[in-house]
Amino acid sequence: MSELIYLDNAATAFPKPPVVIDAMAEFYRDYGVNPGRAGYDLAVEAGLMLDGARSLLDRFFNNPARDRDRVCFALNASAGLNMIIQGVCNPGDHVVATMLEHNSVLRPLYEMEQAGIITHDLVPFDGDGYVDPDDIARAIKPNTRLVVVNHGSNVIGTVQDAAAIGRICREKGVLFALDTAQTAGMIPIDMAAWNVDLLAFTGHKSLMGPTGTGGMVVGPDVPIRPTRWGGTGVKSAVRTHLHYFPYIGEVGTANTIGIAGLKRGVEWILERGLDTIRRHEMALAERLIAGLRDIPKVTLYCAGAGERHLPVVSANVEGWESTQTGELLDVEYDIATRIGLHCAPMAHVGIGTTPKGTVRFSVGPFNTEAHIEAAIVAMRDIASLR
Ligand SMILES: Cc1ncc(COP(=O)(O)O)c(C=O)c1O
Repeated sequence: MSELIYLDNAATAFPKPPVVIDAMAEFYRDYGVNPGRAGYDLAVEAGLMLDGARSLLDRFFNNPARDRDRVCFALNASAGLNMIIQGVCNPGDHVVATMLEHNSVLRPLYEMEQAGIITHDLVPFDGDGYVDPDDIARAIKPNTRLVVVNHGSNVIGTVQDAAAIGRICREKGVLFALDTAQTAGMIPIDMAAWNVDLLAFTGHKSLMGPTGTGGMVVGPDVPIRPTRWGGTGVKSAVRTHLHYFPYIGEVGTANTIGIAGLKRGVEWILERGLDTIRRHEMALAERLIAGLRDIPKVTLYCAGAGERHLPVVSANVEGWESTQTGELLDVEYDIATRIGLHCAPMAHVGIGTTPKGTVRFSVGPFNTEAHIEAAIVAMRDIASLR
């Protein structure tokens, strides 16, 4: 069997840089104890690692609060988005989001609306995959509490104008939350310049950490309450959960081995340079798009490799359902892609691919030109079969 060609990096980056795996092994071998719960040397060392990871991410996202404790770790971006949406919305509030949202935003909104707590509206995107910030402005009502936007689409790869949306939210006095699951580690993110009040991130995609890492970053003066309650390792006699950072967003023992890996992943990105990684990935995406465009039976959806795109390409082959194409790519060509609706059903409504979805190719730092050429050849073969 030939070597697997992994083009599913938008689901999770694979492989991870070896230094990430080394950092995780080193943490568990040398000081893998519970941090911040005791004063012995190993606990202090583990606490320093955790603080170091918070400081690194605080700077990485340029939170104007400059307070590492406002980086709250959780399992993933979904947990961060739940903490944000449930932590800032009150009964009677309205939320604005977009048709490009992932279910990690859509489902909390639907659940809270069904429970009679909030209402929400989804702003559409244009034929190229972009949301007009003025449409967001128009959707904001007197009772709008929060605007939550998917920065980079995991379906069509378009990157929204976070700065313009942030400006509107600030002018209108509405909280702005940015879902950076697909962009963190791929595009420099600037909470301060873009007026981002709340940011959700995931560790296992372009930040190059392991699964089980992610969370939220909270800007200055953002009223947010804890949505989960439990042990914090400090102030155990206090009956209720602690209403200060990082405990507002954290409960129980942290995923320290994961965070040790995430920290090394972010350092690895910074050592290589975001620009260098992005240039490599976007050049491959550009080649993939050009190759697929040459195949008459292939349809691409909002594909592009410019500044406002990620190396994420959705396609379909005439005569084949996305599941069939994905299966052929996997079984016949050893190419791993993602098929279906990609947990973003409204994005597929917008591009007209409901209910069958698309085949999604997503490029990572370890992909090569040979991988892309193989994907193009495979798609040409599949197109010629019907
Ligand atoms: C845009 C977007 N938001 C949120 C998520 C959820 O991320 P996680 O699986 O880390 O919770 C994803 C995952 O694919 C995503 O692509």
